[in-house]
Amino acid sequence: MPSRRRVVILGSTGSIGTQAIQVMASHPDRFEVVGLVSGSNEDLLHRQAADLHVERVGLGAQTALDLARLPDADVVLNAIVGAAGLPASIAALEAGKTLALANKESLVAGGAACADATVRGGGRVVPVDSEHAALAQCLRGLEREAVARIVLTASGGPFRTRADLSEVTPEEALAHPTWSMGPKVTVDSATLMNKALEVIEAHHLFGFDFSDIGVVVHPQSIVHGLVDLVDGSTVLQAAPTDMRIPILGALSAPDIVPAGHVPVDLAALRELRFEPVDHERFPALELAYRAGTAGGTYPCALNAANEVAVQAFLERSIPFTAIPEIVETVLDRHEGGEANELDAVLEADERARTLARVLIGEAPAADKTGNR
Ligand SMILES: NC(=O)c1ccc[n+]([C@@H]2O[C@H](COP(=O)([O-])OP(=O)(O)OC[C@H]3O[C@@H](n4cnc5c(N)ncnc54)[C@H](OP(=O)(O)O)[C@@H]3O)[C@@H](O)[C@H]2O)c1
Repeated sequence: MPSRRRVVILGSTGSIGTQAIQVMASHPDRFEVVGLVSGSNEDLLHRQAADLHVERVGLGAQTALDLARLPDADVVLNAIVGAAGLPASIAALEAGKTLALANKESLVAGGAACADATVRGGGRVVPVDSEHAALAQCLRGLEREAVARIVLTASGGPFRTRADLSEVTPEEALAHPTWSMGPKVTVDSATLMNKALEVIEAHHLFGFDFSDIGVVVHPQSIVHGLVDLVDGSTVLQAAPTDMRIPILGALSAPDIVPAGHVPVDLAALRELRFEPVDHERFPALELAYRAGTAGGTYPCALNAANEVAVQAFLERSIPFTAIPEIVETVLDRHEGGEANELDAVLEADERARTLARVLIGEAPAADKTGNR
């Protein structure tokens, strides 16, 4: 039996964090939790710490940064929501850790900075997102020359078949048909911004050009990723709609360990359905291709504007359809720059947030240029 992996969980009180604790509790021979960080939910954090006998616990971004470098830890699971998770991802990679990454915003906002940190510190990124975990499985053992393109599946969210999105309420957007997740990622799934962020995440994880990354809608969320080979064949990965499977995969990588999940019964399912993305109703995806292709700090600006707009939608300050509109305007006005240094990324992030707030009407009009 291999020695137990010592794991720090950043964002332990959220959807991914609590499921990761369940996964590790089911495999006490494989994992030991050595640190816990959350944003504000102190009660749950302290209950988790008591249950798991963890001493190193705390709230907020600074504690996340400190525990990401914990000498005792082998694996840092980053399940913080939003670009707030980026500094801790960089710290973990610089400290040579395995970064089990749920916080896709780290790679969207700071993909180049994370890559540089990996070179400096010798860490590695293992994806937690089900689509990227699927693609990693499909790509295993394949030469790059053998692969034509990679394709992520999207459930299509709750509004896949709804013609008019102008009256969508937060309650409707938060009712996801196939996945149970935190509020921000659930709204992102409804706008397809989640898939947009995942396309950029895939670019950084697997090194494919944006022209070689596709998205297909698959409402059943059974197939999570597809790899088209140059000979005309396609490799698919299918798994039950349960985040505990990719979480365990990321924590155990490269091993695949028994987990008691029953594989998908294709005969019982009878059919797998796929359809193209409706880019007119869901413009977020094209914004990601545009930002990703522009590179530098453009993806960071896209992500920051989206975070502000999603929050404003949840607070009922803007309609659902304004979310991609605000992101697009922020991208139009963004002056890009290099994204290799954390400071440059954070500065671009702040500029984009300020402009998004101005567009929403939350910030003084004097800030309309987006300058601070
Ligand atoms: N949920 C899923 O199924 C799923 C699937 C794939 C990928 N992801 C990705 O995983 C990440 C987390 O998603 P989630 O659904 O688990 O979100 P969530 O339920 O909202 O949980 C977010 C976690 O981050 C913590 N947090 C927020 N701000 C923080 C800060 N400044 N410092 C430290 N901790 C902070 C929260 O703490 P408090 O609760 O104490 O505020 C909470 O523990 C996102 O990037 C998401 O896109 C999620």
